[in-house]
Amino acid sequence: MTDFNPRDLRNAFGSFLTGVTVITARTPEGQPVGFTANSFASVSLDPPLLLVCPGKSLSSFETFRAASHFAVSVLAEGQEDVSNTFAGFKGDRFARVAHDIDLHDVPVIRGAVARFSCATQQAIPAGDHCILLGRVVAFDHDGSAGLGYGGGRYFSLGLERATGESAERGAVVGAIIETEAGILLEQTADGLRPPQITMQGRTNQLEALAAGLAQRGISADLNRVYSAFDDHRLGTHHTYVLATATARTADTGLRCVAPDDLPVQRYTTPAITTMMARFALETRGRAFTLYLGDEVAGETHNA
Ligand SMILES: Cc1cc2nc3c(=O)[nH]c(=O)nc-3n(C[C@H](O)[C@H](O)[C@H](O)COP(=O)(O)O)c2cc1C
Repeated sequence: MTDFNPRDLRNAFGSFLTGVTVITARTPEGQPVGFTANSFASVSLDPPLLLVCPGKSLSSFETFRAASHFAVSVLAEGQEDVSNTFAGFKGDRFARVAHDIDLHDVPVIRGAVARFSCATQQAIPAGDHCILLGRVVAFDHDGSAGLGYGGGRYFSLGLERATGESAERGAVVGAIIETEAGILLEQTADGLRPPQITMQGRTNQLEALAAGLAQRGISADLNRVYSAFDDHRLGTHHTYVLATATARTADTGLRCVAPDDLPVQRYTTPAITTMMARFALETRGRAFTLYLGDEVAGETHNA
């Protein structure tokens, strides 16, 4: 016996980022069985070997330990429901999930990124699990992105990359800064807008905004997000926070507009016009909502 806290150990193991697979086989009576597994690993190219570790607590453990054949389906982005079905659903898992049948009559998941049909090479006892070593007899793969898993949560690399790309394309972060006299706005050739910066790379947005404001001679408390939206016309993502000026140099080059005058100003874009009209209205009752959406439609939330 070790004196580790099992939960700590599980969390430490869980910090290793993995993909998600569904392991399938048939019982001697021909019933399909399957479970979600992230203990999959590729082992050898020549001969082609892979492994997965079924736990003794699985209802299908005996089937997997003794199976002559099994299959591994590597789940694709968007197949979280397939993973959840094969991790928790107690009814007929295969009735819920589209699948095909491989050359050994074992079901494999349709839409999976890769599917490996294996002959069992060895089932090695390993504590409360066993190491199922399979020799790959056939496989297919479609080159799309796999579903990720880490720290007990799913993640999607495609989505991560898309947000990264959008940050590179232009994430704009700005501040609606209140002073005793009014709101500080930046004059551009196209009209007024809250002072804002365009993010370069993946730095912390609030720190970058504070630095951008400091360059303009303003220090401000950045309080909370007021609006986050995509502007599809410009291909940019915008986040505006509510802020209170704590100090500013004499000439910041910014205009100071009284709240009542905000709705009649000319702004750079329709999205900013709408946001500033909402701010003018909400600042009267000091009850601010949070807007999430794009430049055309979205939702306000009570924050
Ligand atoms: C992402 C994820 C990975 C998992 N990996 C494994 C694993 O490698 N081995 C295992 O035995 N169970 C693993 N499980 C748990 C099983 O999927 C789950 O206990 C099983 O589906 C229960 O099946 P049963 O109801 O037939 O006993 C994992 C679950 C999830 C959500």
